[in-house]
Amino acid sequence: MAFIVKKNIHGKEYYYLNKSVREGKRVRTKTIAYLGKNKNEAEKKAKELAKRSTAEEQTTGRKTGKPPQKIVNSNNNMEKISALKPKEISIEDMTTFCKRKGFVYNSGEIYGGLAGFWDFGPLGVEFKNNIKNEWWKFHVRQRNDVAGIDGSIITNPKAWEASGHVSSFSDVAVVCKKCGYKTKLDKSELGKAKCEKCRGEYASKGNFNLMFTTNVGPIQEDSIKSYLRPETAQLIFTNFKFVHDNARLKLPFGIAQIGKAFRNEIAPRDFLFRCREFEQMEIEYFVDPKEKCPYAIGNSEILVLSAEMQEQNKEPIKMKIKEAYEKNIIKTDWHAYWLEQEFLWFTSLGANPDKFRIRQHKADEKSHYALDTWDLEYEFPFGWKELQGMANRTNFDLKQHEKFSKTSMEIVEEKNGKAEKILPHVVCEPSQGVERAFLVFMFDAYYFDEKRQNIVLKLNPKLSPIKAAVFPIVKKPEYEDLSEKILVDLKKEFNVLSDNSGSIGRRYARNDEAGTPFCITIDDESPKNKDVTIRDRDTTKQIRVKIADLKETLRKLIGKEISFEKAGKPVETRVKE
Ligand code: GAP
Repeated sequence: MAFIVKKNIHGKEYYYLNKSVREGKRVRTKTIAYLGKNKNEAEKKAKELAKRSTAEEQTTGRKTGKPPQKIVNSNNNMEKISALKPKEISIEDMTTFCKRKGFVYNSGEIYGGLAGFWDFGPLGVEFKNNIKNEWWKFHVRQRNDVAGIDGSIITNPKAWEASGHVSSFSDVAVVCKKCGYKTKLDKSELGKAKCEKCRGEYASKGNFNLMFTTNVGPIQEDSIKSYLRPETAQLIFTNFKFVHDNARLKLPFGIAQIGKAFRNEIAPRDFLFRCREFEQMEIEYFVDPKEKCPYAIGNSEILVLSAEMQEQNKEPIKMKIKEAYEKNIIKTDWHAYWLEQEFLWFTSLGANPDKFRIRQHKADEKSHYALDTWDLEYEFPFGWKELQGMANRTNFDLKQHEKFSKTSMEIVEEKNGKAEKILPHVVCEPSQGVERAFLVFMFDAYYFDEKRQNIVLKLNPKLSPIKAAVFPIVKKPEYEDLSEKILVDLKKEFNVLSDNSGSIGRRYARNDEAGTPFCITIDDESPKNKDVTIRDRDTTKQIRVKIADLKETLRKLIGKEISFEKAGKPVETRVKE
């Protein structure tokens, strides 16, 4: 039951729409909306809210089974007024949003841009760094068996001959004979694939190597031709023995790297999905192929699509990754383990688990180095696409580097009391692009709030570019100085900004759209009581917290170590949103 209440705060009247909610055996009062400072205005607003929610009920076709309510007295309606809804948007809309908010710009836009190249703006660079930091924490710091490196972008070109990229890293460029649409095809698709726009036939324009070439050395006759790396993986292989020795690793172990990769893609498209310059987050995980995976595979459920199912035109089946391994759909325990780890990394940071599936590469689809590959795929607005490739590369790369460099890549391990030489296998290579992860988190965070009438970017606080916005609402030196002091202190640890322009509602809306999880208000009571208000982006609930505890509270809130309600003293919303 929803009802209007009047509150007297410091001699002023404020009107709210409250409702009673049953929690177990108790009935609690919850504030749904702020209605203003005047009774007539409040009644009008309450009626408008009821009307809006009824209209919404009709347009969404959702039926309550009850006749539309005349006044604000339905719990059901009230829930909808304040509901935060995920909003499906196209990749074009996402591109526009990212540009408007300063996440991503066309590279060199003032000159018309350059296809496949993107620049990251103030919010984008923070967000991207947070994704990379969370990846590094999960895959390197929190494990005992993975060490990191940072290899160079250009290396001795022999590395790329050894890896097979010079001879085999190519795609076929095709153009549709009917509509002129240009795209790339895998060699295996040539002669089979139809135009994705008009189903016309493709004509081949030839086979193109995807590596960018460059000359090392400014004097042409002395320079050597080399390549911008098309994957970070090879630097891991070439440094494999050094890292094994320096980090004192024992099999099984992984070497991780985050860094730029370049591919002269025939058809860069879908915003950040297929770029010519991008960043990869990769692990080469080395094992003795005779040994089993010592780590448990959990109970994560996901849609599974094997090569065999695709050949038989079957639909993916939802099952536990563990079950897929037990039924021999996934051939190795290591593959199953890493597939689950990667899925968990995404979902632990707020990605929607229902939009993920794992798909095995068909025989004619595998890269030149792969024995078996499973992709972690995500349902983008333009279809199911590869988010992450996980190939079993065997000992192909180490063998090739042994052959081309004439250097042994074997390591010595003690087995049953005896020293044994081993050339380890990369049983699984979790490899993903930062830009694709960027898109996943953005699409899954994009919500629209009917009540607030603005976008709320519900990013996991760990990924949010700005952790908190500080609002001084009283324009007097005493308040502004306090606000500055708080800001300086918080900035030592978090990316925090001060927002002091426009109405408070405007400031909240701007920060909701930027994904800022917490807004801190320094109000008329702050200097006296030495406390501030923190407002939660997703619920708009507010708590009062002592300034002395602010940093610690923020740290706990970002890490989700404490619920918002328990992080401070709940307060009534006094400020119009
Ligand atoms: N070392 C293995 C490797 O590079 P890949 O499947 O070619 O394998 C790994 O690439 C991941 O890198 C992909 O799953 C994707 O996330 C990302 N990636 C590849 N090409 C990309 C591109 N043109 N633009 C953005 N990301 C790309």
